[in-house]
Amino acid sequence: MLKVVRAASLTQTLMPHETADSPYVLGAASAEHDRLIRQAAIWNPFTERLFRDAGIGTGQRVLDIGSGVGDVAPLVARLVGPSAEVVGVERDPATIATARSRVAEAGLSNVTSKATSEASRSANSSTQ
Ligand SMILES: C[S@@+](CC[C@H](N)C(=O)[O-])C[C@H]1O[C@@H](n2cnc3c(N)ncnc32)[C@H](O)[C@@H]1O
Repeated sequence: MLKVVRAASLTQTLMPHETADSPYVLGAASAEHDRLIRQAAIWNPFTERLFRDAGIGTGQRVLDIGSGVGDVAPLVARLVGPSAEVVGVERDPATIATARSRVAEAGLSNVTSKATSEASRSANSSTQ
């Protein structure tokens, strides 16, 4: 069964004048990446509790939309275990590069970071 946990909805965070192609309002500069990392260090225990309470656990496959520099996906990867999988989807290439390098540094083989365009290509190819 597919479980959907919405920590934050991207569509809900769009401002009235924004579309999916608009620049992301908080940007992707290194200061924003640093902010996300500091924020995760504070919130990770609460995020983990939310996911556990929502029933995320061993063996599940999880999709992390708007995955940023790779703080939430590794946390989930530890909850689901090495034989399961977490796919992070992110629109910004520099942000994905940072996430990939942090995931590699953490030695996690069950986390994949994809660009939104790559993610839509794999979704299309798996339905053909
Ligand atoms: C506030 S950050 C949160 C990152 C991460 N989830 C975390 O909690 O640390 C939101 C991220 O969503 C990405 N994003 C925004 N719109 C997106 C879209 N339409 N598709 C994929 N990623 C998107 C941004 O580039 C940004 O990295």
